[in-house]
Amino acid sequence: MSTAAEHYEHHLGPIYVWMAGGAEAALQAGSAEIEALNLPVTRGAVVLDLGAGFGMHSIPLARRGARVTAIDTSVELLRTLTELRGDLPVHTVNDDLLGFQSHIAEAPSAILCMGDTITHLPDFGAVEKLIERASVKLSPGGMLVVSFRDYSVPLIPVRSDETRILTCFLEYEPEAVLVHDILHERAAEGWQTRVSHYRKLRLSPERLIDRLQSNGFKVRREAGMRGMVRVVAQSV
Ligand SMILES: C[S@@+](CC[C@H](N)C(=O)[O-])C[C@H]1O[C@@H](n2cnc3c(N)ncnc32)[C@H](O)[C@@H]1O
Repeated sequence: MSTAAEHYEHHLGPIYVWMAGGAEAALQAGSAEIEALNLPVTRGAVVLDLGAGFGMHSIPLARRGARVTAIDTSVELLRTLTELRGDLPVHTVNDDLLGFQSHIAEAPSAILCMGDTITHLPDFGAVEKLIERASVKLSPGGMLVVSFRDYSVPLIPVRSDETRILTCFLEYEPEAVLVHDILHERAAEGWQTRVSHYRKLRLSPERLIDRLQSNGFKVRREAGMRGMVRVVAQSV
């Protein structure tokens, strides 16, 4: 089995933008999601995007005037983000998201951990660390936004076109799910298949919300994009 970092480096990184429907469509979707969130982000505000990927949310936030620090373990996706951001103020950091405190000098107005990134953490203890660190670092009234898939229900996400087919199947453990990504790509000599699997957390929205509330956050739960659960927690 691959670690999440290996899985992205060797398997998903090179096709991630395609999987998300292409850069333009994904940035538009990210922009709509940021708009809907109505974050307390004024011009020049500091925002952290944890597991930022290619910048689906970082770039729209920077377009709205935020100074964004985008942290990700995938060098490939951060390289794509750097190409897409142009002159926008998005600072990229190649690190584990739990180390975010060492990359900010000012209290952030918002911390995002979106697009099913939080389920890459190894266990619920790591989720608790993230919540505690965010509650200490956020500016008063600042928001922590988490969107993720609720893996208590079976899912088989698929995207395909004439040259590529991505199928996914899930194998359930009590606290985690093994995600098998099966990629078929058309090459000159015919179809090639690559397979890789990695572990994601089965994070219950209720457990996450309970822990946020016990850390003093005011919490609301809503429907996120692509069937995800979105939890918006405000520091008080
Ligand atoms: C499912 S993608 C979501 C990307 C982005 N947030 C979005 O909504 O498009 C998960 C991202 O988290 C990154 N990632 C996974 N585990 C991480 C960790 N422990 N620290 C930093 N980044 C991580 C992956 O490299 C990947 O870019």
